[in-house]
Amino acid sequence: MRKKIVAGNWKMNKDYNDGLALFSEVINMVKDEVVGDLKVVVCAPFIHLNSLVGLGKGYDKVSVGAQNAHQEEAGAYTGEISTSMLKSINVEYVILGHSERRQYFGENNALLAKKTDAALENGLKPIFCIGETFSERESGEYFNVVKSQLAEATFHLSADGFSKLVIAYEPVWAIGTGVTASSAQAQEIHAFIRKEIAAKYGQEVADNTSILYGGSCNPKNAEELFSQADIDGGLIGGASLKSRDFVDIAKAFN
Ligand code: G3H
Repeated sequence: MRKKIVAGNWKMNKDYNDGLALFSEVINMVKDEVVGDLKVVVCAPFIHLNSLVGLGKGYDKVSVGAQNAHQEEAGAYTGEISTSMLKSINVEYVILGHSERRQYFGENNALLAKKTDAALENGLKPIFCIGETFSERESGEYFNVVKSQLAEATFHLSADGFSKLVIAYEPVWAIGTGVTASSAQAQEIHAFIRKEIAAKYGQEVADNTSILYGGSCNPKNAEELFSQADIDGGLIGGASLKSRDFVDIAKAFN
């Protein structure tokens, strides 16, 4: 049975102390309140990760993730962080292929295939992001776009490798805009993604793959989105910066 996951992506927000305070609030709320059977993941900037892993020890429901990693193990790559470095501090997840990385840092499917390999080699669980732009949706190209992002960056993996991925569908036009895909739009493409995975790896792998929705998800729309058959949780940006909103989104699974 696939895991339900609500992952927060803080992006480039929160200084060190504010980040620790936010994470502690999240842990306390998840501990004290009725949160269903799901995994809560917090993907924070690199400077927070080691401390968050320490604070999260003993709380099984909450895991820590990075927002990016380099594809090489080590070397002269000034300013970069490798997947083995993340593993060395027990970070569990890593977001790969976020549309902001694709748009502002020129990350393409070929590079992301290497990053995915590096993450899996070091035992990290990639949250692999795919999604179309507004013009790709308008032109009706979105099925092809999502299909190539998935196939070119992840379909070289064995079934065993692929089954360690979490997929996040994030329509670029819904990220940080306050515009959310309707639950029917999101369900349509999530079902399509699962069908593509089934065609490549078989129905069992597809049925066990968690596919998250991202894009202006908030406490008001989460329940409706998460009630869709192929939506297994969310990748939450803005709303993950407020502990109350983030945990209320997680509670939408109750
Ligand atoms: O990684 C998270 C997504 O980019 C969604 O961001 O919830 O602020 O729209 P958002």
